[in-house]
Amino acid sequence: MGMKSVPLTLAAAVAAATAATARAEEIRIETARTAIVLDAKQGKEVGWLYWGAKADEPAQKRWRGPLLSCFGGWAEWDPALRVTHADGSLTTELAFAGCERQTLDANRTRTTLILKDPLYPLTVRVAFTAYAKEDVITQQVTLTHQEPGDITVHAMASTAPTLPEGDWWLTSFQNRFLDNWPNEMHVYEERLSPGTKRLANYRSTRSAYFENPAVLISQGPAQEEAGEVYGIAVAWTGNWEIDLAMDTGRAVRAKAGMAALAADYKLPPDTPYVSPEAILTHSSAGKGQISRNLHDYARNYVLVDGDKPNPILLNSWEGVYFTFDEAKIKEMIKDAAEMGLELFVLDDGWFGNGEYARDAANAGLGDWQVNAKKLPCGLQGLADYAKSLGIRFGLWVELEMVNPKSALAKAHPEWVVKSGKREILQGRSQWLLDLTNPAVQDFVVETFDRILREAPGISYIKWDANRTVANVGSGYLPKDRQANFWYDYARGLYSVYARIRERHPHLQMQVCASGGGRVDYGALAYHNEFWTSDNTSAIRRIYIQWGTSHFYPAKAMAAHFSRSGVGNPLKEPFPASFRLHVALSGRFGFELQPSHLTEQERKTAEAGIRAAKDYIRDIVQFGDLYRLHSPYLRDGYAALSYVAKDKSQALVFAYSLDTAYDKGPLRLRLAGLDPAKTYAIEEVLTPDGRKPLAVSGQKRAGADLMREGLTLPIAKLYDNCILRLRAL
Ligand code: DGJ
Repeated sequence: MGMKSVPLTLAAAVAAATAATARAEEIRIETARTAIVLDAKQGKEVGWLYWGAKADEPAQKRWRGPLLSCFGGWAEWDPALRVTHADGSLTTELAFAGCERQTLDANRTRTTLILKDPLYPLTVRVAFTAYAKEDVITQQVTLTHQEPGDITVHAMASTAPTLPEGDWWLTSFQNRFLDNWPNEMHVYEERLSPGTKRLANYRSTRSAYFENPAVLISQGPAQEEAGEVYGIAVAWTGNWEIDLAMDTGRAVRAKAGMAALAADYKLPPDTPYVSPEAILTHSSAGKGQISRNLHDYARNYVLVDGDKPNPILLNSWEGVYFTFDEAKIKEMIKDAAEMGLELFVLDDGWFGNGEYARDAANAGLGDWQVNAKKLPCGLQGLADYAKSLGIRFGLWVELEMVNPKSALAKAHPEWVVKSGKREILQGRSQWLLDLTNPAVQDFVVETFDRILREAPGISYIKWDANRTVANVGSGYLPKDRQANFWYDYARGLYSVYARIRERHPHLQMQVCASGGGRVDYGALAYHNEFWTSDNTSAIRRIYIQWGTSHFYPAKAMAAHFSRSGVGNPLKEPFPASFRLHVALSGRFGFELQPSHLTEQERKTAEAGIRAAKDYIRDIVQFGDLYRLHSPYLRDGYAALSYVAKDKSQALVFAYSLDTAYDKGPLRLRLAGLDPAKTYAIEEVLTPDGRKPLAVSGQKRAGADLMREGLTLPIAKLYDNCILRLRAL
């Protein structure tokens, strides 16, 4: 459902090019290197014949499973679609009734299969959009009916491909709490065995906090640059499920889409019920290629302004939390400008007045007026001040939420999500507003607009969401439609985002939900970037960013230099260059009070900012990622690289994470270079107190760097290096 993937004007323009091919028996959906092949016979159930590399496609294909298994017929499969009809019947059968093909542009084609129940006026459209260059195919299901009353949709998946017999392994990405602090996108790998493995979110608003809606399925454990791997992600900022069901013959069906739990949707006639998009990609050459496919897809089609560099910023949160006044913020802005940063973002704490002043997490949410005591010059005053120093100004909001201690909670108790008379549970001292209610949607859109109207100097917004749904219930939805909440909330949120984007198409926005709680392709379509995690500890970030990079690009992955020392057995912040290098490998920024920096930290940081502007940002944000050495090998190292699209430049980041008595130097084979080119190697931003590595100054052939590799003597704890490679 990415904004850019369904532009209405484009759809209208291509409508004329639409051709109906009602009698096709085999339907092919193709990208440059991959294909999905479906068995589609008029009046029969549609089935999966093949999904994989075109090069490996067998001449004789077998029917592997239904495109969209229904609860009806022999119902052997866990239903991808289950409906109770208006007359109370529990069964549905879907037969192929036609196919439409649209050429959206030189790179994209849409193939829509039309399925109909022979006995009921119920139509399901399954739309595949193929992104040729990116080797990505999205799948989306839309159901409509003209039955004489409401039907109930109990379950409707976005996709359910069946893969043939194999030694299938699953890679999932889940939050691993350590020291009572999050570590989003920790990588879990397991061998599938017969039965069903489920990953899910049932907490709505934080769609990706505990488990990310994205999986890899591979033949054997997924390798970086070899082997068959499938990637599936669900673009949904709500409840989702991904079920991996292996049968006793070791074939796997991956059913992915909205969660069915307590979500029996009452659907009136002539109202489309639209699944999230599932994003599918396949690689015959390892999961590295899956990541590069998705990074290109995200930059080209999902992220807002995905082709423009994201700014190097300072966020105030870890620097001052709620404790600040105008003088302090101005001092931070001044420091940020002097350090060479491009943007200052004022985080939480700037709003609410009197008894509802936002001086802590327990008051003020909902009262989106600037705190006149803390910031007498107002937001525009701060934006003007930043501008006078040559940098931009950004602001944090959390508009879906309300503290019980706020004027808004008193004025509109009916706007709060609650289950009748049951206690409204508080999470982080806050309640959730009911975005199924159009009045609440209007309030959020209008508040957002007013803030920007009053302070037009704001050019960046961090949108946060810090609690989930508990004791679900809506005062807006009728009694018999309470289960519509999950879908209507997510659609309400998207409608809010879309209205905001219509008015502010190029405003830079970061999505955040207690860190990486909304790192999903649905939310990303309205944002430029995401806050990867509240955990800014450099050592933890190596793992968090490693996991995140599997599905989401570095361009959008905010990575901030902070003073956190979490996880350091020495109980102190990590060496400045270690923190700097980890932050530089994502969307680089800062999360601290600059006045707390030591002289050496500031010098290191400023050198990093110069290098980021000069050459690092471009390669990291727009290059191809190669993960070279996994921290999960637990041999004390991690390394990755970004290679410019034309292979003329590359950056290698290598980190020493741990010590062991038998730890030798890091032997690192590079990847993705042009084998025929010769590269000049230069170590940049060398850590304080260490001489540049011996490889710095060498000239080596790309082929040699990929075959023989480099020996990097960085075994000392928290040593690390960045190598810059330039083709001669
Ligand atoms: C949670 C976010 O993840 C943090 O970065 C910060 O914005 C706080 N909320 C503010 O309350």
